[in-house]
Amino acid sequence: MSDEKQRVQPARLLEMQSTAVLLLDDALQLRYLNPAAENLFQVSRRRIIGQAWSAMVLVSESMEGYLQDALDRQLSFTERELELCASNGQVMIVDFTVAAISRSELLLEVVRRDRYIRIAHEEQLLAQQRAARELLRGMAHEIKNPLGGLRGAAQLLESELEDEEQKEYTQVIMREADRLRNLVDRMLGPNNLPQKQMINIHQVLEHVRSLVEAEGNETVQLVREYDPSIPDLCADSEQLIQAVLNLVRNAVQSGADRIILRSRTQRQVTIGQERYRLAVRLDIVDNGKGIDDTMKEQIFYPMVTGRPEGTGLGLSMAQTLVNQHNGIIEFVSEPGQTVFTLLLPLEEA
Ligand SMILES: Nc1ncnc2c1ncn2[C@@H]1O[C@H](COP(=O)(O)OP(=O)(O)OP(=O)(O)O)[C@@H](O)[C@H]1O
Ligand SMILES: [Mg+2]
Repeated sequence: MSDEKQRVQPARLLEMQSTAVLLLDDALQLRYLNPAAENLFQVSRRRIIGQAWSAMVLVSESMEGYLQDALDRQLSFTERELELCASNGQVMIVDFTVAAISRSELLLEVVRRDRYIRIAHEEQLLAQQRAARELLRGMAHEIKNPLGGLRGAAQLLESELEDEEQKEYTQVIMREADRLRNLVDRMLGPNNLPQKQMINIHQVLEHVRSLVEAEGNETVQLVREYDPSIPDLCADSEQLIQAVLNLVRNAVQSGADRIILRSRTQRQVTIGQERYRLAVRLDIVDNGKGIDDTMKEQIFYPMVTGRPEGTGLGLSMAQTLVNQHNGIIEFVSEPGQTVFTLLLPLEEA
C-alpha cells in the first residue's frame, strides 16, 4: 500500500490549521477562508464567500491600498501588531501577512496577538513586583538585627533606672522598637512555604467573614454568593485566609457599605505561561470609591498606598501568597465598583 493514500491532502491541512487563512480575488472579494478565520472573525463562510472582504472586517482605506498594491506589483509583506475591527465590533491586535500568489489571488494570514501581548505585559509586571519585594525583604532583614539590639539595650537600661519618670523614655524606645519590628516583619512577608492540604474554599471565606465582622465594621454588609459545588483544593488555608483578609479589609477601607464574597469555578484559565483546565475564582466586589487610574499599575508593589495610615503591604503580601499557590490576583475598578479576583488552579498545569 502506498503512503500516498494515508497522507492528508494539502487542502485539508489548511482546514486544520490554527492560523486564520483567507484568499481574496482581484476585486478583494473572499474566495476562501479556513475554519480558524471563521472563528477569528466570527463569520460563517457559507454566507461570507463571494462578498467583499470589507464585509467581514472594517478596513481602513490605507489597508485597501496596501492590498491592491500587493496585487498590482505581486508583492508580499507583513504588518505587525495591526489593529483590526471585526464587523461584530470586536477590536483585535493581529500580525497580518499578505502574499500575492497570482495576478488575481491574494493570500492573507492573520495571527491574533493581543493575548500574547497581554501575557507578556502581565509577566513583566509580576517580575517587577517580585523584584521590588525582594529588595524590600533585604532591607527589612538589615533593619531587624540592630533593632533587636536596640530594644534589648533599652530593657537593660530600664532595669538600672531608679527614677520612674525616666523609665517613660525607655518605654517609648521599646514601644517604638516593637512597632517597627511589626512593620519589618510584614515587610519580610510570608517566611514559610505553604503547608498544603485538602481544604474547602468556603471555610476560608467564612473565616475571613467572621474576622472582619469581629473587627466591628457594622456599617458594612457582607454578602455571600457561594457556589457550593466547588471541589476541595490543595492549599494552605492560613495563607489563603491572610490573602483574602487583606483584600476584604481594603474593600472595607474603600468606604464601601456592601461587599460581595463570590466563589465560582472557571474553565481554561491562563496564569502566566501556564494553562489550567479548571480554577477556583473568588471575587471580592465592593461599592466603594474605586482605585485612581494613576495608581492602578502600582498597587501590587510593596509600600504603595493611597491611605494616610496605610503601609502598602497588604496587596503585595496577598499576591505573594497566592503566587505560591500558582494563582494570581487581578482587579478591575471604577468609582462605585471594584472587583478583586483571585484565581487558584484546581490541578497541575
Ligand atoms: N478595594 C479597593 N478600593 C479602593 N482602593 C483600593 C482597594 N484595594 C486597594 N486599594 C488601593 O490600593 C492601595 C494599596 O493597598 P494595600 O492593601 O497594598 O495597602 P494599604 O491597604 O494601603 O496598607 P496595608 O494593607 O499594608 O495596611 C490602597 O492604599 C488603596 O489606595
Ligand atoms: Mg490593605
